[in-house]
Amino acid sequence: MAPISIDDLEKMKKAVLFDDNDVKALKRAGEILEGQIEEILDLWHGFVGSHPHLVHYFADKKSGQSDSEYLARVRKRFGQWIKDTCTRPYDQDWINYQYEIGLRHHRSKKNKVDSVDSVDIVPLRYMICFIYPITATIRQFLEKGAESSEEVDQMFHGWFKSVTLQVALWSYPYATQGDW
Ligand code: HEM
Repeated sequence: MAPISIDDLEKMKKAVLFDDNDVKALKRAGEILEGQIEEILDLWHGFVGSHPHLVHYFADKKSGQSDSEYLARVRKRFGQWIKDTCTRPYDQDWINYQYEIGLRHHRSKKNKVDSVDSVDIVPLRYMICFIYPITATIRQFLEKGAESSEEVDQMFHGWFKSVTLQVALWSYPYATQGDW
C-alpha cells in the first residue's frame, strides 16, 4: 500500500485544478484514444528513440545497447496506462499503482519487472520535463475524434492536469526525509 492517502490526493487534485469536469473529459478522451494507442506509442517511441540521452534509460548498463525487448514490454504497459489515465477511478487502488510506477522509474524498482540489467534510475528532472511532450503530442490524437475545438480543449486540459498529478505522485521515492 502506498504511503499516500485519498486525502493527500484530494488536496493535490485541488492544487492542479482537477475536478469532475476533467473526469468527464478524460472519459471521452478514452473513447477517442482507444483506437489510436499504437500510433500514440509509435510517436512517443520515436521521440525517445531519436534522443540518445533518453534511450539510454532503456539500454543495457554494461554494453550501452538499447534493449528492444525491454522497450517492447514497457510499451505494452504504457498502452494500458493511457487507458487507465482516462477511465480508471482515481481511488486508493489507483494511488497504489501510481506509487508502484514511481518506484519503477526510481532505483527502488527500475528493471525489476522485466528482469533487465539497464541503468538504475530515470532522473527526476526528465520525469518532470516529459510532462510537456506527453501532453503536447496527445492533442493531434484528441482532434481526430472530437466534435468541436472546445471539446478538444477540455480533454487536453484534463489530460495535462492528470499527467502533472501523476508525475507529482511518482516523485514520492525521489523526495527523501519527508520532503515530498
Ligand atoms: C510524464 C512522464 C512519464 C510518463 C507519463 C511515463 C510513463 C510510463 C509508464 C506508464 C510506464 C510503465 C509503468 C508500468 O510498469 O506499468 C513507464 C515505464 C518506464 N519509463 Fe516512463 N514515463 C515518463 C517519464 C519517463 C522518462 C523521462 C524516461 C526516460 C527517458 C522514462 C523511462 C521509462 C522506463 C525505463 C520505464 C520502465 C521502468 C521499469 O523498469 O519497470 N519514463 N513510464
